Amino acid sequence: MKSLTIFSILGLAALSASAVAGEDKIQLKHGPGSELVAAHCVMCHSLDMIQINSPFLKRGQWEATVTKMKKVMGAPINDEDTAKIVDYLTKYYGAETPPAPPAAAKN
Ligand code: HEC
Repeated sequence: MKSLTIFSILGLAALSASAVAGEDKIQLKHGPGSELVAAHCVMCHSLDMIQINSPFLKRGQWEATVTKMKKVMGAPINDEDTAKIVDYLTKYYGAETPPAPPAAAKN
């Protein structure tokens, strides 16, 4: 279901681009905090959870999401790392952030 959603949002261009790239490993945008996200957010699901939700989530919602991952799902993330992760997600995957050129554009 989630992948249907993302495909309908991003449209056919993204669908065919990712099909061509055939990538199974999601690359996070590089920036301060990306290594924390890579370390803490792949324990239970793939990083595409972040990409799929990035068009919708602003800072408060990312904060709520990370809190939910901790409180509801049991993600072991301390407060300091939480703040850095929320900063990172807001900056690189926030709804306020103008979308970066899709990674697929490089082909
Ligand atoms: C302990 C396991 C666990 C960890 C660690 C974890 N998640 Fe999740 N996450 C889940 C589960 C389970 C779901 C699906 C639950 C659902 O559909 O509500 C989920 C769903 C999501 C979603 C979909 C939206 C939502 O609210 O369900 C996002 C976005 C997400 N995770 C982001 C993250 C981020 C960012 C991190 C790192 C800070 C992270 N997750 C770490 C278990 C985890």
